[in-house]
Amino acid sequence: MGLLSRKVTCNSHGQDSSYFLGWQEYEKNPYHEVNNPQGIIQMGLAENQLSFDLPESWLAKNADAAGFKRDGQSILKELALFQDYHGLPAFKKALVDFMAEIRGNKVTFDPNHIVLTAGATSANETLMFCLAEQGDAFLLPTPYYPGFDRDLKWRTGVEIVPIQCTSSNRFQITAPALEEAYQQAQRKNLRVKGVLVTNPSNPLGTTMRRDELDLLINFITDKEIHLISDEIYSGTVFSSPGFVSIMEVLKDRSLEQTPVWERVHIVYSLSKDLGLPGFRVGAIYSNDPIVVAAATKMSSFGLVSSQTQYLLSAMLSDKKFTKEYMAKNHKRLQKQQSKLVSGLEKAGIGCLESNAGLFCWVDMRHLLSSNTFEAEMELWKRIVYDVKLNISPGSSCHCSEPGWFRVCFSNISEDTLKLAMQRLKSFVDSIAINDQSHQELKNSRKKFRTKWVFRLSFQSFHDREQDER
Ligand SMILES: Cc1ncc(COP(=O)(O)O)c(C=O)c1O
Repeated sequence: MGLLSRKVTCNSHGQDSSYFLGWQEYEKNPYHEVNNPQGIIQMGLAENQLSFDLPESWLAKNADAAGFKRDGQSILKELALFQDYHGLPAFKKALVDFMAEIRGNKVTFDPNHIVLTAGATSANETLMFCLAEQGDAFLLPTPYYPGFDRDLKWRTGVEIVPIQCTSSNRFQITAPALEEAYQQAQRKNLRVKGVLVTNPSNPLGTTMRRDELDLLINFITDKEIHLISDEIYSGTVFSSPGFVSIMEVLKDRSLEQTPVWERVHIVYSLSKDLGLPGFRVGAIYSNDPIVVAAATKMSSFGLVSSQTQYLLSAMLSDKKFTKEYMAKNHKRLQKQQSKLVSGLEKAGIGCLESNAGLFCWVDMRHLLSSNTFEAEMELWKRIVYDVKLNISPGSSCHCSEPGWFRVCFSNISEDTLKLAMQRLKSFVDSIAINDQSHQELKNSRKKFRTKWVFRLSFQSFHDREQDER
């Protein structure tokens, strides 16, 4: 241990978060329709598995792209030899055109301003290295994607200061919350270098409103700091209100010639919109040529392989394919999301109204034994171990209110989703039954001042599950 670096031995990777622990539990006992029907259903993974048939059928029709051929001739040598870190021009062009298409072509992107990275994970970290020093801070609205603790902080030494958002206004960012986070950073002697938002939001599944985006632009103008907009879910917006990219707001406000223009940076990736997280394709889009040049050099540490770039430049240049993919994928996401929402409703559980993303932000505050994060963890454990659903507790997303959970819907089949909702409903029903009998018991024992422990309800659910098996 003594000879190892502090980075290796410190505990700031975030692997101990309940977000990752839930995945580990799932790995130990994964649900399978036939082989393990009692296993844990994975609803803690934001993966889009609803539209694989579309790239699959494209690949079947475009054998050259997948077979590393051009006009029937092998280009293996060309792809296998040394790759320049600037990326394939054809792929960068195809990617910026795809980004514009997602934004309804209201904005266009210059391929000279894009840097390819191994996923959005690498893009976010690279931007931290470009924009901040160790000990500087970025302000992030809560709840936020749990991976940011690893991606933004671990290797860079940058700090995250939360912008506290609450359910009172659907977790929207407000001017006082922004100012309070800024002041909090200053009280901690941290220099604020910027704000990072995820639009559409992970974990909320909502798009940011134009007034929120305006507020952010005004704030970073006033404080002379950066804004990173992680738009990794921009292609998942399946219902209104539509998606407004930060780039659109800058253009609408004619801010191209002002200093703020160069301080806004977009992160993108094909992990969610095309459901290809394993391909590791991400990007930074920046209006600052110095950031683009530095990030391009840094991308050496996490390049996208040439054959992936070659394959995807052919796929994304096929406009008929991208159009059809987007339309079908949106419909499927919307259908699966509404199945989740109605399944939750049947179990008496509500969620934040959403229009994007691969998950819902679910309100289980009424199932907590007390309004505390300890009670949230207690409920989460019951849901993972007894109900056998892996979902992510709000505390892992740094939510300021206990009782919220992120539940993913696009990585499982419709049948599995149905089963998950049945399991959840019987769990909630068991709580209600026990609560009711408890109420009767409590009334009859009132004179003895018996204290009821909510945990009993969970225990009896567990017992009932065991009996049923
Ligand atoms: C908001 C956000 N940013 C970045 C990432 C990382 O994405 P990638 O797989 O492209 O590295 C994720 C993945 O869940 C995410 O939700």
